[in-house]
Amino acid sequence: MDKFLIKGPNRLNGSISIGGAKNAVLPLMTACIIHPGKYILNNVPILRDTITMAKLLEMVGAQVEIYKNSFLINTKNCNKPYAPYDLVSTMRASFYVLGPFMSRFKEAQVSLPGGCAWGPRPVDFHIKALEKMGAQINLTDGYIKASGRLKGTNIIFDKSSVGATGNIMMAAVNAKGTTKIENSALEPEIDCLMNFLNTMGANINRDSNNNIIIKGESKFRDNFEFDVIPDRIEAGTFMIATAMCKGKVKLNNVNPNHLSIVIDKLIQSGSNIVINNNSLTIESKNRPKPVDIDTLIYPGYPTDLQAQWMALMSIANGSSKIIDNIYTDRFTHIAELERLGANISLNSNIATINGVKSLKGAQVMSTDIRASASLVIAGLFADKDTEISRIYHIDRGYENIENKFSKLGAKITRIKK
Ligand code: EPZ
Repeated sequence: MDKFLIKGPNRLNGSISIGGAKNAVLPLMTACIIHPGKYILNNVPILRDTITMAKLLEMVGAQVEIYKNSFLINTKNCNKPYAPYDLVSTMRASFYVLGPFMSRFKEAQVSLPGGCAWGPRPVDFHIKALEKMGAQINLTDGYIKASGRLKGTNIIFDKSSVGATGNIMMAAVNAKGTTKIENSALEPEIDCLMNFLNTMGANINRDSNNNIIIKGESKFRDNFEFDVIPDRIEAGTFMIATAMCKGKVKLNNVNPNHLSIVIDKLIQSGSNIVINNNSLTIESKNRPKPVDIDTLIYPGYPTDLQAQWMALMSIANGSSKIIDNIYTDRFTHIAELERLGANISLNSNIATINGVKSLKGAQVMSTDIRASASLVIAGLFADKDTEISRIYHIDRGYENIENKFSKLGAKITRIKK
């Protein structure tokens, strides 16, 4: 298994381009199943997860060709609405085939995703909503077996869910009648999926209360190109890294509107940020000030940038608190940051970080995509050498992260094992 070797400390200077959003493109890829046709997705990040999703589409009968950062997807021959455990268990987003399978095939056999590094990842919202739309669902041998012609209805989620909102939108576009989703996710990745489905011929809108209204029995079209939105989590990761290591970095191909709260928190902690329409420049000269965060659904502070913020706060000039309200057990990175010298205590889902002046390199281990990113950031700042193992986690969500940091002057190399 590959490792990263980082020689610290590092300052970051220069400019890089941010890739397309992993969490937008994964449902776009499964949406191509809904109507047999040819689709071109541009600005697709080449990641373990997008390659895994391409393999899943091919298992369903699609053809996927990759040209640089464009995916050419042909779903004309899809004929197998089945997603196996050994694939779904490696990537929860595989579950996004459920809605498209029901739209196109009126049946589905999809493995339950199981848990992840930091705990259970239930899918009860997806199942209850499909049952309310008229699907017959059996849970046997760890698989969801669903069938039936879906009917439009009113869906109210107990709490906002990105995945459930996406799956039900994709199920509803071919249902008989109109579906209304209340308490829907507001993430930009969901609006990106909505735009793709409407380009495909669906009729989906948000009403004045942000509920999503989907008219069923869409008249679909194919043979079009679609650009994936920039990855706000990748952008936030590089912004926080610059705030921690100090220096001046310009990020191209970003949507600053998707990063409002992250920008605000970084300015509060002492960074200077200049925003243009699709780029931003962050400059950091001093030790960060302590700033608390509460993770919330969009447009609140994203849970996917919680670990990275913890790395920054580990060297802040005082104490801060991080509360994760989305995943109350997403703290596997604490033990690894402590190996670098961080001073963090955890009580339930509330972490208290007592900032220290310096960190010292050590051997640490990745546990999930965003925890790995926090270790890279802390390793770049720390004195001496940091070795990060199990970096296949980071390869799931970041394209060429070591090359991008090297371009900014960082001493980081991948050791192939
Ligand atoms: C998406 O996961 C993202 N993944 C996650 O990013 C992200 O952390 C998460 O949204 C929250 O923003 C993708 O988009 C591929 P949810 P998802 O359904 O859809 C609970 C990364 O690092 N819930 O919005 O699985 C759930 O337990 C990944 O890129 C239920 O209880 O998240 C959580 O507490 C990690 N029942 C909350 O809702 C359900 O049926 C939000 O989960 C579904 C969710």
